[in-house]
Amino acid sequence: MFALNINICAFIALQIGITIVLTQSSFASFITHERRDTIPTGFTLIGPADGSSMLTLRINLISNNMPGLESELYNTARKAHLSKEELTAFVSPTNETTTSVTDWLSSFGIDFTTTSSAGNWLQITVNVGTANQLLNANFMSFNDDSTGKEIVRTLSYSLPTQLQPHIRLIHPTVVFPVKVKPFGSTLKQKSDIPGNIAGRATAPPASCAEEITPTCLLDLYGIPLSPTPNPQTASRLAIAEFHNQFPQKADLVAFLKAFRPDLPSNLTFNVEFIDGGSDPQNPSEAGIVANLNVQYTIGLAPTIPVTVIIVGPDNTDGIDGFLDLINFVLEQPNPAQVLLIPFGFNEPDVTSTMAQALCDGYMQLGGLGITVIFPSGNGGVAGVESEQCTTFIPTFPSSCPFVTSVGGTTGIPEVAADFSSGGFSNIFTRPDYQTTAVEKYLSLIGDLNAGKFNKSSRAFPDVSALAENIVIIVGGTEDAVAGTEASATIFASIIALINAEIIAGGLGPVLGFLNPLFYIADIFNDITSGDNPGCDTDGFPALVGWDAISGIGSTNFVGTSSITKL
Ligand SMILES: *[C@@H]1O[C@H](CO)[C@@H](O)[C@H](O)[C@H]1NC(C)=O
Ligand SMILES: *[C@@H]1O[C@H](CO)[C@@H](O)[C@H](O)[C@H]1NC(C)=O
Ligand SMILES: *[C@@H]1O[C@H](CO)[C@@H](O)[C@H](O)[C@H]1NC(C)=O
Repeated sequence: MFALNINICAFIALQIGITIVLTQSSFASFITHERRDTIPTGFTLIGPADGSSMLTLRINLISNNMPGLESELYNTARKAHLSKEELTAFVSPTNETTTSVTDWLSSFGIDFTTTSSAGNWLQITVNVGTANQLLNANFMSFNDDSTGKEIVRTLSYSLPTQLQPHIRLIHPTVVFPVKVKPFGSTLKQKSDIPGNIAGRATAPPASCAEEITPTCLLDLYGIPLSPTPNPQTASRLAIAEFHNQFPQKADLVAFLKAFRPDLPSNLTFNVEFIDGGSDPQNPSEAGIVANLNVQYTIGLAPTIPVTVIIVGPDNTDGIDGFLDLINFVLEQPNPAQVLLIPFGFNEPDVTSTMAQALCDGYMQLGGLGITVIFPSGNGGVAGVESEQCTTFIPTFPSSCPFVTSVGGTTGIPEVAADFSSGGFSNIFTRPDYQTTAVEKYLSLIGDLNAGKFNKSSRAFPDVSALAENIVIIVGGTEDAVAGTEASATIFASIIALINAEIIAGGLGPVLGFLNPLFYIADIFNDITSGDNPGCDTDGFPALVGWDAISGIGSTNFVGTSSITKL
């Protein structure tokens, strides 16, 4: 599945050959690298792990120049994106880092593979006994109460003191399996939509105030008609689906017939699989989110080739394949320029080192000119799904400063949707591109919700779009859904269309990482009312300018003149 970089491995082997191999005893002094004090809820301790059972561990090495990559991405001018070679120059570890870590593994007789072409991820397979010795750890068996599956984790691990500056994390160790949410359980299906496709007239619904269809969105957001794509350079869009969610082709045909009768109803999407993903197309199992994704990308942007990357259950990354997806796209020779990932989880579900490792991955995708888009979540200030809380729960990956987080609005004219998650990270510092906008908001709200969120950090969402009463077809039946998965899908389609105009008009590089461009561009409808309650508060209010529920607003795209504002 991963492109093993032969050159790097050959180089490493050569290095080992000429390096004096250190003995295990030269790594005698350990320092605790990561620990957790409690077993997370949903898991029950069984006992010590069987010493002979095998573990596959990933080792994330410290890159040589992530600050350099960061300043490339924070540039507010549109400029050429990095080549893979230029990206690798930032991301690869120093020779000292690689050599120190591989010497350490060799001293235990452990073979490794390099699973990223930049060389910053290594993978080893060892038994529990060796892993305990290597990491001064105590791997134990736990029952995952929701699946009944047994998993092996440790509550702490250590590194030899001299290796600590070279390793960011080893995984899976202290991060328990994260169940990424399609937010699907909160993607509300409404049964009160009158009629169904059989009885539907070809004309769009009389009132977009009650149900949102592609026609409503094309008008509302001034969505550009897509130019005929040039297959060599076309703007393309990829959507990642997890938990084996797949889009139903028959539903897409029905949707296009009902809501885009002007288009051929045989428009379709490509599929790619990782981690044992599959696409059985049996009508009973189509994913609501996956259907929403293809119906609104193809329904709004019919000339943009759409690829659905289906991430299956055979991932060993402990984050439902989130790490595997990043590596998969980074290794693709010609990845789509827009990547929509309509899934997420609460920021506290992972350690800060894991959040940083994932966020670094999104930064790398941005460096290559890929726009990475996530929904902000559907629980207001109370996380991806509303839950009991005393302090606000930020969502991830929205809290990563290198993704574009899309909040939700409702109605025409738009007001912020009450479920739209927004707020402030407890991990990532505030990026320069949003400092002015966020500080203005903080001064407007004064002491509101003081102590419930972190005033100094990365704030989200960045932008928003309609997210309620979105009409889709699932299992042949018309339905309306609500959730930021919808707004993220609409927004991703608009970006792919702007990229298509840029390519067709020879107007420079595609948009890539949007945020530094968008916070200063004048192409947004400001959303100024609504709030996102949670944690026994009214949450954050939408106000003039950026706010922690609708971001800088919804797009107001008026042809190529908008591109010149970017
Ligand atoms: C690191 O290794 C590469 C590949 O062999 C080599 O080209 C480079 O000069 C080395 N850098 C340093 C600083 O030793
Ligand atoms: C879609 O249908 C049109 C005719 O309506 C046909 O020309 C075209 O080849 C079809 N495309 C696919 C992908 O089947
Ligand atoms: C607030 O966010 C910063 C990052 O900007 C982080 O370093 C700090 O630990 C956070 N504070 C709390 C209490 O979580």
